[in-house]
Amino acid sequence: MNNRLTLVIVVILVLGVILWRYYPQTPSKGNARQQIVEVNVPDLTGAALAGKAVYDEKCASCHGANAAGQQDIAPPLVHRFYEPGHHGDRSFYLAAKNGVRAHHWPFGDMPPVEGITDKQIARIIEYVRRLQIANGIE
Ligand code: HEC
Repeated sequence: MNNRLTLVIVVILVLGVILWRYYPQTPSKGNARQQIVEVNVPDLTGAALAGKAVYDEKCASCHGANAAGQQDIAPPLVHRFYEPGHHGDRSFYLAAKNGVRAHHWPFGDMPPVEGITDKQIARIIEYVRRLQIANGIE
């Protein structure tokens, strides 16, 4: 057999094995990334329940279901960094309207959330604060 052909086949096989072995594995649970914290979910009513709906539509793609964060994407909002004394309600309005420069986490900047209203943000805050309280963050 032609030696060059054998060499080419061997190189292709080796590259194939390397790619197969080291190519990032797709997460097993659909496209969901791994959450960063465990979150106890309390019963929700009123504004907090309305806030969950807005949150799920506008924030969950990054901050994850139940604000538990997503590995490599965005932090959990159920986290002591974001307790009221550290990140007051104002920081939620500013984050949603203007975006956030990455400073606490290695996930890059948060872009402004297009078309969100103050009322929607107020409801999201009700929701996130309820989650925080249910998880001992006050
Ligand atoms: C495209 C992804 C993305 C979306 C969508 C997103 N965020 Fe963020 N958010 C981030 C990242 C990343 C950070 C972390 C920045 C850092 O390193 O501190 C962040 C940080 C924050 C902070 C902390 C702000 C501060 O002052 O440190 C708040 C509050 C926040 N997000 C709220 C929200 C809310 C509310 C929504 C939905 C209305 C939302 N985010 C949607 C990616 C996102």
